[in-house]
Amino acid sequence: MLRLFKTTKQKKLLSSVIDGDIPSHIALIMDGNGRWARRRNLPRVAGHRAGVESIRRCLHGARELKKVKYMTFYAFSTENWQRPSSEISYLMDLPGYFLNRELKTLMENNIRLGIVGDISRLPDHTREVIEDGMAQTAGNDGVYLNFALNYGGRDDILFAARKIWQELEAGNLRQEDIDKDVFASFLLTGDMPAPDLLIRTSGELRISNFLLWQLAYSELYFTDVLWPDFDEIHLYQAIADYQQRSRRYGGLQQEE
Ligand code: FPP
Repeated sequence: MLRLFKTTKQKKLLSSVIDGDIPSHIALIMDGNGRWARRRNLPRVAGHRAGVESIRRCLHGARELKKVKYMTFYAFSTENWQRPSSEISYLMDLPGYFLNRELKTLMENNIRLGIVGDISRLPDHTREVIEDGMAQTAGNDGVYLNFALNYGGRDDILFAARKIWQELEAGNLRQEDIDKDVFASFLLTGDMPAPDLLIRTSGELRISNFLLWQLAYSELYFTDVLWPDFDEIHLYQAIADYQQRSRRYGGLQQEE
């Protein structure tokens, strides 16, 4: 249960969100961990660790809504390799830290773990714990919990183009067959719909090479809240904002 929603205003938020249109796929750029830690005179990595709790809270909040089917968290970008090696090594321990604590909950709640990104470049212990988590949850068909790990939107498009080229060369595809849907099926998110809502925390107003193709018509929501402070109430505020938008996909609304 969502015990966090205590005040009248919060309870109103909860019931209006439940009654509205729930995004099926929510993508999240978790930003501000370093600043959160700095404000507390803690090492940057303490912010990343606290950020894992926010993932847990979001998942809990989303599950309560029943209709969120996919959540994609940007955990490590292809550009994050530029960070100091000590921070990279800490970030590579977080999938294990998360899964050791949460795998049981994922199983109890029918949550399936997925990855977008090239995990072959990750350290063995990180890759193994992820592969094990994916294998154990493969039969679950509730929320699809995705982590973007060693992910870059431009690489995603490039690799899809290369795979399509190979299929063309092999004679498995004809040039005239390649439309937007076929192209999208070659992306790392090929088995998912595009995100309905993108949330980015910490006040930065960028996409940062995340899901570039897939975000073409997503609603974007930016908040100043730092990721480790982000909780179920913030998630519901983002969804409430999404529910005010009119999604026209470049067309007109019926009454216009
Ligand atoms: C951005 O904050 C955050 C990241 C680069 C990493 C986010 C990863 C997690 C919260 C955990 C991933 C967990 C699993 C289970 C895969 P920042 O360091 O750029 O913050 P700053 O902009 O304030 O410095």
